[in-house]
Amino acid sequence: MHNAAFAALGLDWRYLAFEVAPDNLRAAIEGAKVMGFAGLNLTVPHKLLAVTMVDALDESARVWGAVNTVRFEGRTANSGWLPPGHFDKDPPVETRTVGFNTDADALVNSLREDLQLELSGKKVLLLGAGGAGRTAALRLAAENVSALFLVNRTFSKILEIQHEIRQKFPAVYVGLDYPTPPHSEIDLILNATSLGLKSDDPLPLDEKLFSLKQTAAVYDMIYRPAATPLLQAAHAAGCRTANGLGMLLHQGAKAFEIWTGQPAPLAVMRQALEQNIYGR
Ligand code: ATR
Repeated sequence: MHNAAFAALGLDWRYLAFEVAPDNLRAAIEGAKVMGFAGLNLTVPHKLLAVTMVDALDESARVWGAVNTVRFEGRTANSGWLPPGHFDKDPPVETRTVGFNTDADALVNSLREDLQLELSGKKVLLLGAGGAGRTAALRLAAENVSALFLVNRTFSKILEIQHEIRQKFPAVYVGLDYPTPPHSEIDLILNATSLGLKSDDPLPLDEKLFSLKQTAAVYDMIYRPAATPLLQAAHAAGCRTANGLGMLLHQGAKAFEIWTGQPAPLAVMRQALEQNIYGR
């Protein structure tokens, strides 16, 4: 999606993928900096590690505690810190790395765009409490959901998230189980577990404890396959459904804007994603 976007804007930039072992992350960031990269995206398992490895944290990375986007900034003898693309004639005398998080807002954008869901006052059942689940829980709380029900295989992780939300967003009710009366009807089930990636995975939801008929919408962060068993079951139960492609798109679009300083060509990026991931 990034290469399609660069081409659409006539930028001679390239987006490349590199596999980096966690032990080499610091060296990889430094290496990219001295080679004049404009920026980086980081994915599992680097997002938490990078928080301690960048020179400065944008508010987004500080609030959500994870870095998925890095921008290399430079300073000339007579300028402040500037983003990439300003140093064709006058090379920077100093460079620094700045960490951002574009995942958290991307979820809210995608829920709004793909499920027509405004989160304020809504009741949400969140499945999963790994890196993606934790960020989602905090972001939903910041959006003033009225109640958040957390379910995860490892209980200690949802306890920690409950504690963090109670401190930062005390108005949000946080339950540590499936919703029970008086919360029999909810607005959204959000899957942030990895269940559904493999064809023989069980559903991330225990339908004996909570029925898909009790929710208006289901969002699965997984985008490959396009329709996980959870989304298929949700569709059959009459729910509005969406997969994680919109989240992938919006985190990328925001990163694009952070690096280039230009509005991301969203339609071009979405089409490139759909073609690459679904072949259509
Ligand atoms: P990510 O960064 O994508 O969130 P992660 O941190 O590895 O990845 O989180 C994976 C999530 O899927 C976790 O909630 C994990 O549950 P645990 O916290 O108990 O590990 C959940 N998950 C993975 N495999 C699972 C399985 N077989 N059954 C239930 N939950 C599972």
